[in-house]
Amino acid sequence: MAREFTSVGVVGLGTMGAGIVEVFARNGIDVVAVEISAAALERGRVTLTGSTDRAVAKGKLAEADRDALLSRVTFQVGLDALHSVDLVIEAVPEHLDLKQRIFAELDRVCKPEAILATNTSSLSVTEISVATTRPNQVIGIHFFNPAPVMKLVEVVRTVVTSADVVADVEALCERLGKVDVTISDRAGFIANALLFGYLNHAVSMFESRYATREDIDAAMKLGCGLPMGPLALMDLIGLDTAYEILDTMYRRGGRDRRHAPVPLIKQMVTAGLLGRKSGRGFYTYERPGSPVVVPDEQTPVASESALADGARAIAKVGVVGSGTMATGIIEVFAKAGYEVVSVTRGAEKSAKVFESVKTSLNKGVVRGKLSEADRDAALGRINWSATLEHLADVDLVVEAVVEELSVKKALFASLDEICKPGVVLATTTSSLPVIDVAMATQRPADVVGLHFFNPAPIMPLVEVVQTIRTSAETTATAKAVCATLGKTGVVCGDRSGFIVNALLFPYLNDAVKMLEASYSTADDIDYAMKLGCGYPMGPFELLDVVGLDVSLAIQRELYLELREPGFAPAPLLEHLVTAGYLGRKSGRGFRDHTRR
Ligand SMILES: NC(=O)c1ccc[n+]([C@@H]2O[C@H](COP(=O)([O-])OP(=O)(O)OC[C@H]3O[C@@H](n4cnc5c(N)ncnc54)[C@H](O)[C@@H]3O)[C@@H](O)[C@H]2O)c1
Repeated sequence: MAREFTSVGVVGLGTMGAGIVEVFARNGIDVVAVEISAAALERGRVTLTGSTDRAVAKGKLAEADRDALLSRVTFQVGLDALHSVDLVIEAVPEHLDLKQRIFAELDRVCKPEAILATNTSSLSVTEISVATTRPNQVIGIHFFNPAPVMKLVEVVRTVVTSADVVADVEALCERLGKVDVTISDRAGFIANALLFGYLNHAVSMFESRYATREDIDAAMKLGCGLPMGPLALMDLIGLDTAYEILDTMYRRGGRDRRHAPVPLIKQMVTAGLLGRKSGRGFYTYERPGSPVVVPDEQTPVASESALADGARAIAKVGVVGSGTMATGIIEVFAKAGYEVVSVTRGAEKSAKVFESVKTSLNKGVVRGKLSEADRDAALGRINWSATLEHLADVDLVVEAVVEELSVKKALFASLDEICKPGVVLATTTSSLPVIDVAMATQRPADVVGLHFFNPAPIMPLVEVVQTIRTSAETTATAKAVCATLGKTGVVCGDRSGFIVNALLFPYLNDAVKMLEASYSTADDIDYAMKLGCGYPMGPFELLDVVGLDVSLAIQRELYLELREPGFAPAPLLEHLVTAGYLGRKSGRGFRDHTRR
């Protein structure tokens, strides 16, 4: 029979502690909430009532239930108040010496059978446990932020945690309506080990002015369907906490440079810019603790019109290519009202593209999203051609031919001869340097990357890639065009992987390395990222959809360009590709898709 928990203690009522109190009290468990001072206690109480009031306002909690919830919580200063609880969860700042001191004190104060748990994100639970005389009753219970919302709990057992304590805590998580994954004591456990390298990398992109904070965040939200961008997430986590987690992971996790905190993080912490909790981090908030972002000096000012930014007028667009991307892009432009010239390698290819575009537009008609007249008008706006000469008078060319540098360079050299002056020449390459293509022309200032995502008619993001030669007008034109297509254009530099792939694929590769190291299973890793971080798919689900060969190729490019040892492709990924396990398309990848 699992142990009955009727009362628990929570130590530290900051970002995590206040949320953890709410989780327990919501589920009928009495909570003794403890802080270091009366002022901190009051802040914790305000966070808790603020959160429960919001739940009532949103209709997610009845008023009577809120009152009952709050009546279950006793607020106290000092650990002595925890003498009779069955379980304590510690959620104080991420410092080993502080946590060890608190555990030694809890060991003295709490009844002998009480379980002592830490919410640490990166410190060694084992090292914390040895500060007590009962390390077998010490465990990690790692909640995710915001604790009342995120479903995942990582239960961390050390080599000495007793099996019944693990079982009791697992049963408790179930009672709280959480999904637990039980793992051993390793820096960052599952989710943070996969998350923090990505967050740190995003900060370095911001620090090096590779892209703006808004564009980095929009790219990951719109390109990957994440609930929030990495910089907004850093603000939610708290920059001080994020710094400590990175620093610990760097020291404990094999000194992977990707975990060495980017200098800007420390500078911001020193300057008191801790994120939401202090009212300012990467963004500025209405007031400390508020989730509402307010404009500040970095907020982009919307111009009166795109033309005011120097954008050129675009009416006629050429699209070169006949593959998946070209087909989607032709549809997108025609639907948005542009006159389109499609250039393929022959009438047969054109006919195929025409059929695909028509089929896709018809789907819109069937779903009631497009009228028949609009479909016909869109199709009528497309001119089909098999020669580049027809691009002489277009205002913008979007190239989406095979991903081979020699082919693209030859094409751009031809466009340079054929197209009128002032035309914007765009490549949709996802891995080649745009500057290489630009230098095949005599007008590199007019060349830009327009990286659409697949399927182009659906995905709301376009990466606008500017090389060191791209003019401001060209970038402004590309951004303005994206807006007219109903898409968000995020501007970034000309580096391998741009924003999205550079941030996404190393994380996927890390997940493969974690599986390879037998730290956890593909199912648990997928759960951890979906339920702990709100990702729409777990890494192995996504790898199987994207294709393991495609993922390996992207990861290799990133590794070759950036020479970051941590980006070296996971051997398991290489082996699976060699074995022909490419994901859904071949019936088998990380999972077997033939039996589903
Ligand atoms: N922020 C996150 O997203 C997140 C997510 C999961 C886990 N964690 C982990 O949770 C723990 C807490 O992080 P946080 O972000 O909530 O930190 P925080 O800085 O927001 O809150 C820490 C709280 O602990 C209190 N405190 C400090 N010393 C204390 C003491 N001696 N006795 C009682 N209270 C004391 C502080 O007053 C503060 O309110 C850390 O171990 C962190 O790694 C954080």
